[in-house]
Amino acid sequence: MTSAVPMPHNRRPARCPFRPDPDLERLRDTPELPRVPTSNPQLGTFDAVLVTRFEEVRQALADPRLEAGFAFDRTGPRTVMNQPGILLNYDGAEHTRYRRMLSGAFTVRRVRSLAPAIHRVVEERLDALEAAGPGSDLIEAFAGPVPLLAICELLGIPAEDRDGIRRRSATGTDAANSLETQLENFAAMAAYMGELVRRQREHPGDDILGDLIRRHGDELSNDELVGMGNSILVAGHETVTSMIGLSTLALLRDPEQFALVRDDDTLTAGAVEELLRLLAVAPPLVRQAGADLDLGGHPVKAGERVLLSTLAAHHGTDLVTGDPGRLDVRRTPGAHLAFGYGAHQCIGQQLARLELQIALPALLRRFPGLRPAVGFDSVEYRDDALVFGVSRLPVTW
Ligand code: HEM
Repeated sequence: MTSAVPMPHNRRPARCPFRPDPDLERLRDTPELPRVPTSNPQLGTFDAVLVTRFEEVRQALADPRLEAGFAFDRTGPRTVMNQPGILLNYDGAEHTRYRRMLSGAFTVRRVRSLAPAIHRVVEERLDALEAAGPGSDLIEAFAGPVPLLAICELLGIPAEDRDGIRRRSATGTDAANSLETQLENFAAMAAYMGELVRRQREHPGDDILGDLIRRHGDELSNDELVGMGNSILVAGHETVTSMIGLSTLALLRDPEQFALVRDDDTLTAGAVEELLRLLAVAPPLVRQAGADLDLGGHPVKAGERVLLSTLAAHHGTDLVTGDPGRLDVRRTPGAHLAFGYGAHQCIGQQLARLELQIALPALLRRFPGLRPAVGFDSVEYRDDALVFGVSRLPVTW
């Protein structure tokens, strides 16, 4: 196999964001694990073992010999990903130590307590969308601001700072930006978070940063707190924005599914899981083999890099019966991998679910006749972003 599978996004056919590219589908059916040339802004160009079958992706995510933190260069220049405190930069005992600190602050109680704020933000953004009138861009007016404001509540970021946060977060996850732009943007993000950490050290707030400082302030440097804060900010914003945008598009394309989610509360939780499965917005997860191993009986050598495509895995036949490319909010998909699996499984998944379960039905109920204001073929996608998504979705009602 010689054609490049572009990183960082999961490849999808032009104009059909709901299925993997046919090349990825074909590779899933090859008996061996193919080696594919790939490129990534942080890692450069390299050959990687491409894993596309559900069981093999899950097996890889559960195997501690496949390391996530291999790319972290402790002495290299700091970028949005290359900094201490980011959980994905660590493996083994070091990862467990940071993960425990963060999950201690990320309690179910804290996430649930955000529900009223999320409801409020959703209603405010829907009011703003209604006031702006038909033709408004759903991403700018709703899908972007809702997760951003939720994450700002979680981190204790003041309202007046939120526009700057949004701009920097979008720049940081756009792989089309030059290294120079990325470094400048990172410096601005680090400076902002550094200031927030300094203020919180003086007066720890009733939020996740304040909690980390109260419990672990002596063990964590300001640098590590900046890394933790910024990684939550980036990981928790673009992913949910992408899910709200693509989910809305998927529902707009299928009026029957739209009506089910709009009218039947009992379907909300299952519909969100089905959308997470179908859309699998995370980029292919990258690992490096720390030892010789095998995946589904296929050898992987120590030092080889491995790309795990959750999108391809979700579109095989292991998770659902019937056509995996079809949205069916009534079916209960098996345990999907949209939030990963194993040691690095998404720490913010309950918050993401809560946001989606509140935002999607509220949007469809406020605008029961919601539809795109442009043809489906004119919708623009974030092909260059770390997290695939819709870049603009003008809507009318
Ligand atoms: C629908 C939304 C989201 C999706 C699809 C998603 C997906 C993922 C995936 C696939 C991973 C595993 C990465 C790997 O193994 O290489 C991950 C990890 C992570 N996610 Fe999420 N995520 C979402 C929302 C969030 C939110 C809301 C937050 C925080 C508020 C968050 C914070 C994190 C963090 C900190 C990690 C690293 C965990 C670790 O390395 O131990 N994510 N996410």
